[in-house]
Amino acid sequence: MKRLSKVLLFFTLHSFIFRAPVFLVFLIVLFVKSSAVFSAPFERADLQNGKVLHERNCSSCHDSMFPGGRGNEIYSKDTRKIDTSKKLYAMVEFCALNNNLGWFEEELLDVSGFLNKAFYKFK
Ligand code: HEC
Repeated sequence: MKRLSKVLLFFTLHSFIFRAPVFLVFLIVLFVKSSAVFSAPFERADLQNGKVLHERNCSSCHDSMFPGGRGNEIYSKDTRKIDTSKKLYAMVEFCALNNNLGWFEEELLDVSGFLNKAFYKFK
């Protein structure tokens, strides 16, 4: 009986030691992936397309809200409410939905990326 439990212990340890590196690699991959997302939000965004989409669909309404039609004031440090890249994406989505633009994730990403690059500069 004692011997059996020793054998069992050996196998448990052995399989743990064998699996630990696999698990470690998995953790490292996960970490690198998530830190890449944090270090560059909207990394895959097409910024030029975002700029064009923003000019066509978003600017005029924001412009009408500010004296002199300077709608981009809404994104300036003193005026803005958005303080994280997640909230920025959510707000872009909200404004796009409200205006029935029918945008997909790609357009939302492009415009979020453009706004981040030009104004918010979230890391
Ligand atoms: C019909 C008017 C209108 C249109 C069109 C519009 N918005 Fe807005 N947007 C607003 C208003 C009003 C607010 C302010 C909401 C608030 O402060 O609660 C706002 C706020 C925002 C903010 C948050 C600014 C901040 O940091 O506080 C973002 C980002 C934004 N809009 C993006 C967009 C984008 C992108 C589009 C085009 C897809 C768009 N908006 C189109 C009316 C509009």
